[in-house]
Amino acid sequence: MKEYSKLLLSNKAWAKEKLNLDEEYFHNLAKDQKPLFLWIGCADSRVPAEEVTNTQPGEVFVHRNVANLVVHTDMNLLSVLQYAVEVLLVKHVIVCGHYGCGGVKAAMGNQDLGLINKWLRNIKEVYDKHGYELKNVSDEKLRFDRLVELNVEEQVKNLSKTTIIQRAWKNRQFPHLHGWVFDMSTGIIKEIINIESNSELEPIFKYEFHTDEVITNSSIH
Ligand code: CO
Repeated sequence: MKEYSKLLLSNKAWAKEKLNLDEEYFHNLAKDQKPLFLWIGCADSRVPAEEVTNTQPGEVFVHRNVANLVVHTDMNLLSVLQYAVEVLLVKHVIVCGHYGCGGVKAAMGNQDLGLINKWLRNIKEVYDKHGYELKNVSDEKLRFDRLVELNVEEQVKNLSKTTIIQRAWKNRQFPHLHGWVFDMSTGIIKEIINIESNSELEPIFKYEFHTDEVITNSSIH
């Protein structure tokens, strides 16, 4: 059997199983989505958002890229974030990294990897920002683990620097921001950072909104 045929066969079996449990399952799934969570995770095949959080279709809005980065010029990420925050009105945005992340590992090295250098450069900036702490961790594995955590922390802070998040905080005191790291050797997620709405930001990153710019929840729909 061709590798991909297995996926299509499995899909049919899955759909049948869902219908056996609830014949209205797909009828209800097709109606609408009201996820409470936006998940920004690594593209790594071993960290599927729904699987590791035991959530069902409809519960988590998902964006994944190499090393779960929040880059302020990334239209893809920003479009997902805007839609999730302003239209779906998610209450939590989770950045979930993972130990053993190939993207973070590559960023720790000096090899020229072509185009992806530009993407990984963002992680090198995190390394540089926390250089003092990291240089004092002599064990390479521990330094790698710590950079995974610091990378998640900085990406969560990047979220708080966007007008999308700051405007939502002003309008509806949500979403809360969370930084997590998944440990694939245990299956357990470690909490690294939580940022509640309207937390103090470095003044240089804080935007002021004119009152007439403040969108009410009712005007979004
Ligand atoms: Co990864």
